Amino acid sequence: MIIRHKKKSDISENNVTDEGTYHSRRDIIKSMGVAGLALGGGAVALNGLGQGEAQADAGEALDFATTDYRVDEDKTPFEAVTSINNFYEFGMGKDDPARYADAMSIEPWTIEVEGHCDKPGKISLEDLINPHQLEERIYRFRCVEAWSMVIPWVGVPLGDVLKRFEPNSRAKYVAFQTKYDRDEMRGVRYPVLDWPYREGLRMDEAMNPLALLAVGLYGKSLLHQNGAPLRLVVPWKYGFKSIKSIVRIKFVEDMPFTSWQDSAPSEYGFYSNVNPNVSHPRWSQASERRVGEFRRRETLMFNGYEEEVAALYAGMDLKKNY
Ligand code: MTE
Repeated sequence: MIIRHKKKSDISENNVTDEGTYHSRRDIIKSMGVAGLALGGGAVALNGLGQGEAQADAGEALDFATTDYRVDEDKTPFEAVTSINNFYEFGMGKDDPARYADAMSIEPWTIEVEGHCDKPGKISLEDLINPHQLEERIYRFRCVEAWSMVIPWVGVPLGDVLKRFEPNSRAKYVAFQTKYDRDEMRGVRYPVLDWPYREGLRMDEAMNPLALLAVGLYGKSLLHQNGAPLRLVVPWKYGFKSIKSIVRIKFVEDMPFTSWQDSAPSEYGFYSNVNPNVSHPRWSQASERRVGEFRRRETLMFNGYEEEVAALYAGMDLKKNY
């Protein structure tokens, strides 16, 4: 992958902080508790999480600009971000992605952009990303299962990328699709979801400056388990909207199919904005467990990004449009 890498000698001290200061993965997982670990209705077993270790390699160093998009909270250690994952294409266990996602080939990587736009086409990852300045964005990340992290992502604003394809007035939503390969993804042999994994945003949500197409975290290219080589990060929505390993982007007129909504429509809505006032049918969303912390903390409206995104939903009933 040739996305503006830094030479090893260029990496500054502040790009590599925190990696060494981690609790053991087993401690972190224990501290998460079990409440709510049941995305999609199938209970996620916590047994066996002590087995297997995250890869020691940490992706390739990226050349990025720092920005004001950063929360002043402790970052979740690299070790936890890369070893406690949800990527059901590789299994339902939290450590399955770190164990098995390396089987997914990511080079070369092509993204197909289609639908209601004037410049559709197939584009390589490099051509998609390289015209843009990579930025670091330190965002809160809140899973619908009521655990959360703070992650320093590296990526480019989604809206800036989408504009290059010139979506037209019929483009009301944008749909995303993950790679699907039965040989490389052991989890897709099971009908957990209607594969391939699909997600979507309304166009104005996609154009919001917070929405990020990420290619890295902690200053380095994404590891497979985090959605290499290209994933979405939508920090005001539950984590499942942040679709991984994207191969297709389509501008559409109608609200698109989304995998979790399809699997359990009464539990997972299209919008899935973080909202402490709207419980999941099986657990409260009022509080969350920050990975690595013992006490639960209050969940913030729109995950703390209310100022930036509340206007997108003005006049909408957020209980109905969950
Ligand atoms: N994307 C795909 N393709 N498959 C998945 O199973 N899981 C989602 C989201 N994107 C998922 C996915 C969920 S439920 C969460 S919480 C986040 O990825 C987890 O991202 P992380 O493992 O990098 O923390």
